[in-house]
Amino acid sequence: MSAPNKSYDPVEVEALKPEEIERMRDEALAAFAAADSLDALQEAKVAHTGGTSPLALANREIGALPPQAKAAAGKLVGQARGAVNKGLAARQVELEAERDARVLVEEAVDVTLPYDRVPAGARHPLTTLSERIEDIFVAMGYEVAEGPQVESEWFNFDALNIGPDHPARGEADTFFVQTAPNSGSAAGSGTTESGVVLRTHTSPVQIRSLLDRELPVYVICPGRVYRTDELDATHTPVFNQVELLAVDEGLTMADLKGTLDHMVQSLFGEGMKTRLRPNFFPFTEPSAEMDMLCYVCKGESVGNPDRPCRTCSSEGWIELGGCGMVNPRVLTACGVDPQKYSGFAFGFGIERMLMFRHNVEDMRDMVEGDIRFTRPFGMEI
Ligand code: PHE
Repeated sequence: MSAPNKSYDPVEVEALKPEEIERMRDEALAAFAAADSLDALQEAKVAHTGGTSPLALANREIGALPPQAKAAAGKLVGQARGAVNKGLAARQVELEAERDARVLVEEAVDVTLPYDRVPAGARHPLTTLSERIEDIFVAMGYEVAEGPQVESEWFNFDALNIGPDHPARGEADTFFVQTAPNSGSAAGSGTTESGVVLRTHTSPVQIRSLLDRELPVYVICPGRVYRTDELDATHTPVFNQVELLAVDEGLTMADLKGTLDHMVQSLFGEGMKTRLRPNFFPFTEPSAEMDMLCYVCKGESVGNPDRPCRTCSSEGWIELGGCGMVNPRVLTACGVDPQKYSGFAFGFGIERMLMFRHNVEDMRDMVEGDIRFTRPFGMEI
């Protein structure tokens, strides 16, 4: 700031000459007009309106003027600064509008572009079908029960009345688990030192349910099971089962039959039914093989060569799985009094049901994880 200018001589105060102030104003306005972006405008703003800009310095000079000159100089500088601020604001609005228009174009979303180049995943139809079956029984008051896939031999075999000499226990069917190095398996005796297997069915979950729960017990046990089969079109060493167990007072084979019929009607529609053929399982007595009416021909292809049925090979029935009344020895092993309680159970493979229900011809398709297989099934089956 100049020293106080006691004897006023406007000629000496160069910075406050009207043409100088006009030049400062015009330079500022020209700089704003030349700014082609908001960043450039910000620079011009600092240069022409900031604390060290020519007009700000000129404003400070007013303080050094003699009192009689202050008003005129103040008006001169004030008008120039007003014009500069107005010009700045106007250019700001212009440049912001330009930027907004540009952003709208640059960030526009083309809603016609394909959205599914990376296909979304799909739930596996085995899961969906298994849950569908679970739902039928949950609606009837059953609980879903699960258990470990690495299971003790006692749960997988002994408690189910499958003695040490039962063929299913031998190494032909069962994966034995070594729990310590060199523990080896006692070949031929049907047991291992470890006493641990990959469960060969979900029946051990029935045993666990009977031991864990208060009676009556109504459970549905879905899950993965293991058998030493080679993977081919109709076999897989890992597959899924659903087993059911009901233990209550006064349950009979009629309850089992009614439950089975309800299940196939829920899955395949009105008019469906099951039939039982005598069979043997160590854990049920009596035991039966269960078939369901062929849901395609409803049995009408039998003895009718004009209308052959590919689904049931014109047999009229499709084999579903095993069932029976829980063997009293199993109930006893679980601490349930067979004089007071009786129960029924059944079990079947989900893969097989998926095959005939959805015309899947090769089991390998189910395990290879190719999304082209799973996608057509959607979220509901
Ligand atoms: N656990 C038997 C199997 O895996 C199926 C079954 C369950 C049979 C319940 C009868 C009763 O083959």
